[in-house]
Amino acid sequence: MNAPTLLVTGAAGFIGSHTVIELLTAGFQVVGVDNFSNSDAKAVDRIQALKTEVLDLRGVNFKFYKADVRDAKALEEIFKTHVVHGVIHFAGLKAVGESFEHPLAYWENNVGGTMSLLKVMQEQNVKNLVFSSSATVYGIPESLPIKEEASTHAFSPYGQTKLVCEHLLEDFAKANKDWNISLLRYFNPVGAHESGLIGELPNGVPNNLMPYVTQVAAGWRDQLSIFGSDYDTPDGTCIRDFIHVVDLASGHVAAVQAMLSNLETHPLNAPKFSINGLNIFNFGTGYGVSVKELVETFESVTGQKLKHAFVERRQGDVPAVFADARKAKEFLGWEAKKGVDQMCSDAWKWQLNLKQTEVKA
Ligand code: NAD
Ligand code: WQD
Repeated sequence: MNAPTLLVTGAAGFIGSHTVIELLTAGFQVVGVDNFSNSDAKAVDRIQALKTEVLDLRGVNFKFYKADVRDAKALEEIFKTHVVHGVIHFAGLKAVGESFEHPLAYWENNVGGTMSLLKVMQEQNVKNLVFSSSATVYGIPESLPIKEEASTHAFSPYGQTKLVCEHLLEDFAKANKDWNISLLRYFNPVGAHESGLIGELPNGVPNNLMPYVTQVAAGWRDQLSIFGSDYDTPDGTCIRDFIHVVDLASGHVAAVQAMLSNLETHPLNAPKFSINGLNIFNFGTGYGVSVKELVETFESVTGQKLKHAFVERRQGDVPAVFADARKAKEFLGWEAKKGVDQMCSDAWKWQLNLKQTEVKA
């Protein structure tokens, strides 16, 4: 048997592109799918260049298809062309604010896309699925750090779609005991590949902190607004569990290794960990960093003075969020290793690599 093949939806996106690289590095064959609604073909070229020219990964293939996951016919064709052992499903819309304006688009894409994919997987007899969920499903946490068993509550249409997909997959797993499904709840992914060749490039004005920070430092935006300085936290700004995107990507490798450990002949290094059925994991570092600390770290590691102002709180922000990350370590043997310094320096390296013409706002 050749190395297992994974189908990655949303492969051209921020987390998808980094995960493709970590999967290829681990020896998997990868088939990527994306409709470029929040990315473009250049992202695929960058992945190919990093794979072949920088990392010299010539023994593994990355095949890419431009397709929408809601297009069952297109998916079917892809599954018929490749022997797929498992799927990592990143494709979806992710902007919390936008989801209030366009709830139908979010339900259609995130829930409809997941249903479409699941149906095709069932028809094609592919029974291993990793689903991108989010810490947003915890709503306002009752206690910190947040454990996987904590109660869930969505406060945005985006969060609703993640929660409803989790429920769908839970129902599905109960009825299909021979499936392996991992629900991964990401905290705040930031940073970029250390090469600076792939990274985050949101369409338009960034909603998230780190891309806003790097774009201010690059002179693309005037100044950073820090939303709120009067929270009940040590320095008054919000606290988040920022996780380096490459750590997050390697967590996906650990999850698929553990899920596929039952393949009759696993040609990669025999996985030490094995999981079956439906499992939920927090993907965070386990510690919180304040917005002010992140800004200060960025300034000190990059030497860039960041113009910023403290402004009103942003509606819907939770004061402090960070994961209890022990379950992933225990069951997958994976934990995040990279610190905030590296998150900042790698994000900056990527920003420096981008040309001014890349700004889409
Ligand atoms: P991203 O927007 O960079 O990547 C998502 C990719 O999916 C994009 O390239 C987009 O073009 C593609 N896509 C969207 N709808 C599609 C469809 N119907 N068919 C095919 N492709 C489609 O986002 P990301 O940050 O890489 O997030 C990946 C996943 O992780 C998403 O499901 C997101 O909700 C989830 N997540 C992200 C974060 C975060 O902060 N980045 C946190 C928690 C969870
Ligand atoms: C982080 C902190 C802001 C921008 C979001 C989603 C969550 C998940 C991750 C998908 C907050 C502050 C931000 C700025 C600022 N995504 N901030 N100035 O809100 O923690 O989480 O992304 O699932 O669901 O809600 O991330 O990066 O937007 O904000 O002061 O210009 O930075 O107030 O405290 P958030 P974020």
